[in-house]
Amino acid sequence: MIAKTEEDFKSLKEIGKIVASIRDEMVRQTKPGITTKELDDIAGELFEKAGAISAPKGEYDFPGFTCISVNDEVAHGIPGHRVIQEGDLVNIDVSGSKNGYFADTGISFVVGEGKDILQKICDVAKLAFEAGLKKARPGAKKSGIGKAVHQTARQHGLTVIKNLTGHGIGRRIHEAPDHVYNYYEPWDDELLKEGMVIAFEPFISTDEEEVFQKDDDWTYATEKSFVAQIEHTLILTKDGPIIITL
Ligand code: CO
Ligand code: CO
Repeated sequence: MIAKTEEDFKSLKEIGKIVASIRDEMVRQTKPGITTKELDDIAGELFEKAGAISAPKGEYDFPGFTCISVNDEVAHGIPGHRVIQEGDLVNIDVSGSKNGYFADTGISFVVGEGKDILQKICDVAKLAFEAGLKKARPGAKKSGIGKAVHQTARQHGLTVIKNLTGHGIGRRIHEAPDHVYNYYEPWDDELLKEGMVIAFEPFISTDEEEVFQKDDDWTYATEKSFVAQIEHTLILTKDGPIIITL
């Protein structure tokens, strides 16, 4: 959507704050021994308390309030009986709506002490996010964001997932622009606009550049790579992007 009115900004910021606080509480509770279902139940309660609706559940009938992806899983992992272990790479993705406005956020992190490479991809995802953020200004080409992301990954001997992308958001969880690529897409000549609301989500990979979907029809995974994501919802303005999910 293009945010224009005071109501747009106020409502987007409100749902942004809600999904960010649910994300942060889930990260705090992610300790060895807890199951991903227990983590998701915490989110379910928090959504209800905030008077907000989980987007995956409300829009896509996803079997959970949030997506929790562990190790080889990259995105859309289904909460279940899996027990979190020390050293796991975990991604928590929280999206939801309130009063018809949507926000989407996600983060990858290592539980306790893990392999160095896992921490590295999480750190580079943050750097890639920051690099892309600098290109997220009205009037600039949308493709500049992906260029900065891919460049940052390569500088650290890593790459990006090409078949998962950021997206427009606002009055729906996924809306125009359909794709904010994480690599330079020369055919993408779309210009970013004042007030445009996008979910920007770099996926940094150790090796593979594509994910495949598992037999559960939801989970995206890699064969042998590790992937870290960070996602925030942004409102683009001439004074710089407003991150509503900090
Ligand atoms: Co998300
Ligand atoms: Co998203």
